[in-house]
Amino acid sequence: MYIFLNGRVVKEAEACISVYDHGFLYGDGIYETMRSYGGVVFMLDRHLERLARSASLIRLTCPDRKFLRDAVYETMEYNGLSDAYVRVTVSRGKGKIGLDPRLCKEPTVVIITEGFREYPGSYYQKGTELIMARTRRNLAEALDPSIKSLNFLNNILAKTEAIEKGAYEAVMLNRDGYIAEGTVSNIFFVRDERVCTPSRETGILEGITREVTIRVAGNNGIAVTEGMFVPEDIFAAQEVFLTNTTGEVMPVSRFEHKSYRVGPISRHLHELYRNEVSRYLEEAKKSGR
Ligand code: PDD
Repeated sequence: MYIFLNGRVVKEAEACISVYDHGFLYGDGIYETMRSYGGVVFMLDRHLERLARSASLIRLTCPDRKFLRDAVYETMEYNGLSDAYVRVTVSRGKGKIGLDPRLCKEPTVVIITEGFREYPGSYYQKGTELIMARTRRNLAEALDPSIKSLNFLNNILAKTEAIEKGAYEAVMLNRDGYIAEGTVSNIFFVRDERVCTPSRETGILEGITREVTIRVAGNNGIAVTEGMFVPEDIFAAQEVFLTNTTGEVMPVSRFEHKSYRVGPISRHLHELYRNEVSRYLEEAKKSGR
């Protein structure tokens, strides 16, 4: 595999960064995960906009959108990829030990592209299992959740709980006991035909898949209620699903003791999401991406 590293596409074995990189030493950096379908990265500009916002929130100088867009496609082309997983990482860069970001002169920019590995079909046909994490979501006042940072330990602790219980994903509550999100996904549930999802006030990363799902639902007469919900709301739901870039709309079959069917609304929303992906790809191809 070829990797984009600081302006050049190099072989994976040559894609090395310094042990003094502050991304490694302190988790000082940001990233985006994207998915390419048939050679087009879905919502690329939106992801790069979020990356730019994360960069600005941590006062990191990040290459501009055009540069990154070209670099993403260049890296995919080197690897001969069309359906791909794409990760853009920008760290503070190499610098002397110490928290001061000014110790690093240049950010480190890495783009990894890999052939997309489909999730097992059973995840969509039967659904995935969730647990309620004991680990709470970081306080939004302590770490702004809209910064998609390299600091993932909070989520990794919750993910470890899921792994130890044989579950796929862990749901995190915020400090006040409201449902926030999964470790790498947003959560939705359907209760009495009403589709609900935690609002940004709960301290979530506002996922781009969440955003697209809410939009296509609305365009098709399905209103999504964003609000403050507690675990009991999910236990009382008929359907639950997760959203993220790689998994799209993924149904849930169990949350702790409660089982769910893969219901019609989850299926319908996944279909609408896929239609939106197709529409986007058509548009992108018409305008030369
Ligand atoms: N994660 N919440 C968190 C904490 C996330 O890390 C992610 C994405 C999401 C969903 O965001 P989106 O729909 O934009 O993918 C929600 C990506 C997939 C990752 O960490 O690789």
